[in-house]
Amino acid sequence: MNTALPISLVVLISGNGSNLQAIINQIESGRLNARIAAVISNRPDAFGLERARKHHIPAIGLDHKSYQKRTEFDQALQEAIEKYEPDIIILAGYMRILSAEFIIHFAPRLLNIHPSLLPKYPGLNTYQRALENGDRKHGVSIHIVTADLDSGPVILQGEFEITREDDIHSMQQKTHELEYQMYPLVIQWLSEKRLQLMLDGALFDNEKLQKPLLFNTL
Ligand code: GAR
Repeated sequence: MNTALPISLVVLISGNGSNLQAIINQIESGRLNARIAAVISNRPDAFGLERARKHHIPAIGLDHKSYQKRTEFDQALQEAIEKYEPDIIILAGYMRILSAEFIIHFAPRLLNIHPSLLPKYPGLNTYQRALENGDRKHGVSIHIVTADLDSGPVILQGEFEITREDDIHSMQQKTHELEYQMYPLVIQWLSEKRLQLMLDGALFDNEKLQKPLLFNTL
């Protein structure tokens, strides 16, 4: 039996929230020792908020369009998060750039999942860009958030082959299949303190990670 206190999370989303759902499922099945204190979306109509409510998790829509400046919105977001005193803040399809002030405030407790093998393809349309470039493989990166977009220290990557039959839709499916396993795993490592986040990287099994762990070879 797991007697350690569950790690406490606030999950930030902008849309569908299927990664959020994967985390909820792992918690409810007892495989992930975590507690989602709240889910916050910058889009009040995000389907992920409904997913959270269905599981009796506080779900907050904080509309970024009601704020004139990014820093004002991020200040409100910061206050909304702090009420829940999370150990870690999980960005799961949160599609808004965060201000440096916000990131510095929470660093190194912010994690993001990104659909590419970083440093390749930060930003948007990663499947399309990989297809256009004729890449043979694509994948997922989980990284610590720093002030530069999609470029903080990468903890875990998972990859898949791009075949001739692949299109954006099939690549998204392959990506999600990896993501739904990888994010809960990284959170479980944090919960067990196997993984510790620092400003300039991470400790894994008490050793500084020199390069990302590869999910496919774990
Ligand atoms: C995920 O595939 C995630 O990697 C991506 O958005 C999707 C959200 O799906 N994130 C980014 O592109 C961040 N730059 P979900 O809402 O169904 O979890």
